[in-house]
This record gives sequence, structure tokens and C-alpha cells, in this order.
Amino acid sequence: MAKRKRRTTAAAAARSIPVSHPPVQPGLVSSRRAVPAGVERPPYATLPGGEPPPPSSSPVRTPDELGAMRRTGALAAEVLIAACEHVRAGMTTDAVDRFVHDTTVAAGAYPSPLGYRGFPKSVCTSVNEVICHGIPDSRRLVPGDIVNIDVTVYREGVHGDTSVTLMIGEPDAHSRRLVAETRASLYQGIGAVAAGAAVSDIGRAIQKHAFQHSLGVVREFIGHGVGTEFHSGLQVPHYYDRRHSAALSEGMTFTIEPMLTLGSPQVAMWDDGWTAVTVDGRRTAQFEHTLVCTAAGAEILTRTAAGECAHDLFTEPVG
Ligand code: MF3
Ligand code: CO
Ligand code: CO
Repeated sequence: MAKRKRRTTAAAAARSIPVSHPPVQPGLVSSRRAVPAGVERPPYATLPGGEPPPPSSSPVRTPDELGAMRRTGALAAEVLIAACEHVRAGMTTDAVDRFVHDTTVAAGAYPSPLGYRGFPKSVCTSVNEVICHGIPDSRRLVPGDIVNIDVTVYREGVHGDTSVTLMIGEPDAHSRRLVAETRASLYQGIGAVAAGAAVSDIGRAIQKHAFQHSLGVVREFIGHGVGTEFHSGLQVPHYYDRRHSAALSEGMTFTIEPMLTLGSPQVAMWDDGWTAVTVDGRRTAQFEHTLVCTAAGAEILTRTAAGECAHDLFTEPVG
């Protein structure tokens, strides 16, 4: 009799992966932080409910806009690196928000999340099974947590959007693997970018990497055009979808921000209308860059002038 082939589907692999414990619970959200009058606001920040007008910008940047995006992208990278250097076990995510807010406005920039569609804080902090858009609150980071810090800043009329998943203390082996392979999947996606390539090539590369490592790909949240608008019309799924066959062209600016899961990628939403969590309570990680498509590939805009980013600097656990 032939030996029965052992099948390792993602679902089978997930059965051996524990649910993140204890579950993340909503904490207290501090009052809204002030932005100095001299700081230029994005249009939604002064509109009712922070609702942006329907996307209307071109997917392609002018040379002047691209220059601004290089400077604003570098600032986003610097703020994210500084935030990562600041984070310690025992710190609340509200303290992370205060740090990001103060660092951003000190650089003469507006923290894009603040007031965006009513989002109450200046950065997103997504812990453990929180997929994205976690609202900073009174919860303290504890050793073993993983936390995504998603920084977006607005200066010179354009946004720069970048995030990293940091490990706190001693993360378990599953979390380490999740974080490392989610980071790798972002760079696989970036590697698929070039003028003439299809948007769907990005998701195909990310999904391939995720599935090779038995990780789930979240479908409800996708990469997006970014520039003069925080979220413009361009959509960048992190899974393969042949309907996104449109070609990329030189000068298009957008994010790639895969969210991968140890278990099922199904999404549930907290009552706050923002916090997206995995339905099965297993952990998830995310990494994000803002890019411009070039003839030969992609230029990463969310790096410092020295070419650094938090993804490369914080591959090991902190504090
Ligand atoms: N930075 C997030 C993104 O990558 C968007 C956050 S919107 C907010 O697209 F309102 F939650 F801040
Ligand atoms: Co984004
Ligand atoms: Co972001």
C-alpha cells in the first residue's frame, strides 16, 4: 500500500497555531491632540466628519509632486524609525500616538490619520490579532506582543504612508515567522512593479509568497494610490485578481501593504468602526511602503535620505 500523502493545507497548519491570548480588548482613547495653526492641513481635516471628497487626482505625479513625495516619504520613514526606537514593553499605544503626533508636527507636517473619516488619533497601532486601523488607547504593550505602527504624514501637499510590525520582548516562533514572511511578501510585491506590468502582478507575487509559507492573505484591505490624496482611485489587491489587469505606468504613486495571517484571513470589525481583527483570533502582521513606479521597477519613497527604513532596522524584537 502506498504511503498516504500528508497534506499540509493552510487550514491544517492553522490548527496547530494557538489563538492569540489574551485577546486584545478596547481601552480608553485620550482626547484629541492639537495641531499648531501653522501646519498645513489636508482638505478632509477641515470637512465635516473628515470625509474626503471622492478621489479625483491623476494616478501619475507631476515632477514637482514627485519631488514633494520624496521629501514627505522620507519624513514618514524618519517618524516611523523614531517611533520604533521609542517603543518599549509597558508603554501604552496612546503614548506611541503622542510620540508620533509630536514628532510629526515638530517637522511641520500633519499626521494624516487625525480626523480622517473621523479617525480619532494620529497613527494606527494594531496589536496581535488586530489586522489594521487599531486606535491607540490605554492598552500597554507586553512582552510577546507584535504591533503594527502605521504612520502617514502630510506635508507640501502630499502624503507618505508606511508601516512596520514590531516584535516586543520575546515573541513566539509563529509570530516571528509571520512577521518575517509578511515583510518578505511586501518586497516580493515591490519586485513585481515596473512600467508595463499589470497591477495584478503585485498581488500574485504576494499571494504566492504567503501561500508558500502557509499564511493567509487579507482581502478586505488593499494597497492604494497615494499622493495629493491619502487614498486615491488606484486599488492594489494583495491577492491575485485577474480583473486588475491594467498596466502600471511610470510616475504612478501607490502603497503596497500586505496583511498576512497565521490562520484564517477572515475579518471582523469592532464596534468602534475602525479596528479590524481576525475572526479566528490568530495573529496577523503588516508592512507598508509608498512607491513610485519607474521604467525599470519601483522607487521606494518611504526611506530616509540615507536609504534606511524601519523594515530593515527592526528585524529583531525591541524592549
Ligand atoms: N495608513 C492607513 C493605510 O495604510 C490608513 C489609515 S486611515 C485611518 O492606508 F484613518 F485609520 F488612519
Ligand atoms: Co496605506
Ligand atoms: Co498606512
